[in-house]
Amino acid sequence: MEEKRQSIHGQWSSRWAFILAATGAAVGLGNVWKFPYVTGQNGGGIFVLIYLACMILIGIPLMIAEITLGRCGRQNPAFAMKTIAQENGISQRWRWAGAMMIWVGPLILTYYCVIAGWTLAYVFKAGRGLFHGIDAQQSKMIFESLIASPGSLLFWHSVIMVMTVIVVARGIEKGIEKTVNVMLPTMLVLLLTLVIYGMKSGYFMETLHYLFAPDFSELTSSGILVAMGQAFFSLSLATGTIMMYGAYLPRDASVASTAVVITLADTGVALLAGLAIFPIVFANHLEVGSGPGLIFMTLPIAFGQMPYGSFFAILFFLMLVFAAFTSTISLLEPAVAFLIEAKHFSRKQAAITTGFCVWLAGFGTIFSFNIGKNFQLFGYDFFGLLDYLTANLMLPLGGFFIAVFTAWRMKKAFLRQEMQLHNGLFFQGWYIILRYISPICILIVFAKALKII
Ligand code: PHE
Repeated sequence: MEEKRQSIHGQWSSRWAFILAATGAAVGLGNVWKFPYVTGQNGGGIFVLIYLACMILIGIPLMIAEITLGRCGRQNPAFAMKTIAQENGISQRWRWAGAMMIWVGPLILTYYCVIAGWTLAYVFKAGRGLFHGIDAQQSKMIFESLIASPGSLLFWHSVIMVMTVIVVARGIEKGIEKTVNVMLPTMLVLLLTLVIYGMKSGYFMETLHYLFAPDFSELTSSGILVAMGQAFFSLSLATGTIMMYGAYLPRDASVASTAVVITLADTGVALLAGLAIFPIVFANHLEVGSGPGLIFMTLPIAFGQMPYGSFFAILFFLMLVFAAFTSTISLLEPAVAFLIEAKHFSRKQAAITTGFCVWLAGFGTIFSFNIGKNFQLFGYDFFGLLDYLTANLMLPLGGFFIAVFTAWRMKKAFLRQEMQLHNGLFFQGWYIILRYISPICILIVFAKALKII
């Protein structure tokens, strides 16, 4: 099929390269760090159930839509939506939905990068043998002393930011493809090792029960909102990332099966992380709802007890750094592509400018764990507020816009042609879900959580 447009930034070498890069963007701290602690805070099994429902009813359909829009528009999300709107004869104001998405990535990065810094700090702590034989109390102390120190957090935050800027400045094909090729499979092997450890801990059945036997009395509307936000966050939806990566996708790849593979991989990793972490939590009588520090307080205990524990700990946290790193790059890329396309920056200038702004804003997150702990806005600290604003509000809102734009405003024939789907049934199924189910689910959850209904 002939190309309508090309991205000025180049292309992935194959469909698999795209799948790996997008999976690299999707799999990250969201799966291994955030999923277990939000599950712990929101009732376990019931949260997992809603999360899985969101993946099917909202995640996959939106992933297909975003890849299609990206590959069709082949520019940053704002320009892509504008161009597609033009071609479909609808209002070009839709570009503002794309513009919002460009903002979300860097906003998320202001805290994501700080947490990625924790994982890097932990690589070195493991290397110094700090976890050897520690108990829950000591593990907690190690973590708390790290986050109590603004200097350390700033240092690790800066390292991650500089690395991210360097890779993004070098362009898409060179760095990302190769890193992800090696890091993703290795990360999976390490995660499986931890799951096996968890199976032997004596608390595996309790974990299975906790994760997969929903207790409906724990159902809350805020829990549902968090589950939906987590589905968006984990799949990197509505941040421009998937659309941007889709812009570099070769024309002949099947969008639908690609989207399903990415979603399955991402969900699988999140569940595995849960299966690895909760046995340790239960075995050490740790608090399931202890929040963002959960994995940093639990995993070192397990590593401290297993043979060659320091070695595995180094590997594990290093893998987490790389998993996080393939996401930090993807969080910056849409904003960088925008500056290049709209303001004619060189890639290097664009990466440094956005990187610097995000680095600076990251101070807010850093201080919210120590000297600024008591500073609250709307009942949240800086980190909590940004997390709520991005994951729970901006991402679902962006998703709603994408669903409406694609399934209500774009011409059906145009879409069908872009997706090269001649099999009527799959297309129809997807279209109906994206048109009716996804946006309505998003609206209902929104309205409930914001107490409008
Ligand atoms: N999906 C990533 C994770 O789970 C985070 C992310 C969000 C990356 C949005 C890119 C865009 O860690």
